[in-house]
Amino acid sequence: MSELLVLKWVHILAMVYWLGGEWGVFQTSYKVINRSLSLDERRRHMDTAYKIDILARTGIILLLPLGLHMGVLWTIVPRWPGFIPLVWILTAAWLALCWAAFFYRETDRGIRLTKIDEAIRFVLIPLLVIVSISSLLGHGPFKAGPGMNWYSWKVLIYAGMLVIGLKLRFIMREWTVMFRRLDAEGSNPEVEGRLERSIRVGRTLAYFYWVGIASVCFLGTVKPV
Ligand code: HEM
Repeated sequence: MSELLVLKWVHILAMVYWLGGEWGVFQTSYKVINRSLSLDERRRHMDTAYKIDILARTGIILLLPLGLHMGVLWTIVPRWPGFIPLVWILTAAWLALCWAAFFYRETDRGIRLTKIDEAIRFVLIPLLVIVSISSLLGHGPFKAGPGMNWYSWKVLIYAGMLVIGLKLRFIMREWTVMFRRLDAEGSNPEVEGRLERSIRVGRTLAYFYWVGIASVCFLGTVKPV
């Protein structure tokens, strides 16, 4: 049972929870904005969406350290001393933050924790873009060239998916704020309009998300470049 195969197995599971979870949130969102349902009914669907989404969020976070660890085993990523343990310590901290935001969802603390999680992505996304483009241009740190470029392309597209993911998180975080206003002010066309617009944007982005995730999956399986 090789280390690489076990990591790849978990990597594939992480992708499945991400892709499958996004589909679940996509479908549930129809009920969240359905004005013909009671506010309690809509809130129940919103909570279901959060419960589906937490496994997708966990999958998204885990894909990167698993990919980096496998990249070291593939000798595409340099085996810097202490790199793999550092990656997993940072991953554990990020996952703890992500789950804490889930447990405190719908509260001010939950919103604050979610904003810290988003801030991590503001740093990580440009870092992954710079590292992957630099590698594809032959300046490292990842090995590149025929038969190895798939790795850097995966990291680059993954960074792109994190950008879409960030916008989808803003939309979900806005749900909490909008539902608080509906609670305080009762049915309100302005709030309902904002909810419907944000979810329409979310659904359009979801299509790009699915194609993006599937194409990274293709790169990891077929390794065409
Ligand atoms: C959207 C995100 C991602 C998806 C959907 C994805 C999907 C996959 C899949 C399905 C495999 C298995 C391929 C096979 O069984 O032959 C795989 C393998 C792999 N992925 Fe990813 N991956 C993603 C992100 C990443 C990232 C960000 C990295 C690097 C940091 C990465 C590095 C790898 C490596 C090194 C392998 C092993 C290749 C092998 O041993 O055949 N992946 N990926």
